[in-house]
Amino acid sequence: MTHTTPTSALTAAAPDARSLRDALGRFATGVAFITATPDGKPTGLIVNSLTSVSLTPPLIAFCPSRHSLTWSRMRRAQRFAVNVLGRHHERFAMRATPAGTDRFAGLDWQPGHGGLPLLTDALATLECEIVAEHPTGDHWIVVGRVDNLRTSPIKDPLVFFAGALGALK
Ligand SMILES: Cc1cc2nc3c(=O)[nH]c(=O)nc-3n(C[C@H](O)[C@H](O)[C@H](O)COP(=O)(O)O)c2cc1C
Repeated sequence: MTHTTPTSALTAAAPDARSLRDALGRFATGVAFITATPDGKPTGLIVNSLTSVSLTPPLIAFCPSRHSLTWSRMRRAQRFAVNVLGRHHERFAMRATPAGTDRFAGLDWQPGHGGLPLLTDALATLECEIVAEHPTGDHWIVVGRVDNLRTSPIKDPLVFFAGALGALK
């Protein structure tokens, strides 16, 4: 069986960015703080585009914008950590989202292997080596190989749905 795109799908009108955001906003996700230490300086980016890719080998991916100044610095580190955020991080996530803010101000973290910033109260942390970075549309697809992880017993995630942060229940 082949997997080709029918011509009708190729000629259909492309959805505008607002409609696409609204539709995908109905897909509830968690929220993560991706961290790295390019040039020894703790740096981080809030994302909801995190996904698992492969169990063997252990691969994950997330999608930073190609306009992200923060990611353009972070990628130099060749390694990053995923900090899965909990409901208790809601105010932090709102404060840390605008470009140009000091995202580590007042944050409680410890260095992991190679100095990757790991939040002490994250629901899980995964330390990764960048194994691929694919330019795709206006974002990158960054694939990381997990070489260290830690899971917390806390089961109260931060959730992103319909453009708003919230809790699961
Ligand atoms: C819940 C949430 C999810 C986000 N997910 C992403 C994402 O997956 N990719 C991305 O590039 N930016 C995402 N952002 C925006 C970035 O966190 C950040 O605001 C943006 O990249 C501008 O900052 P920068 O110039 O420092 O990169 C998200 C923001 C929020 C609040």
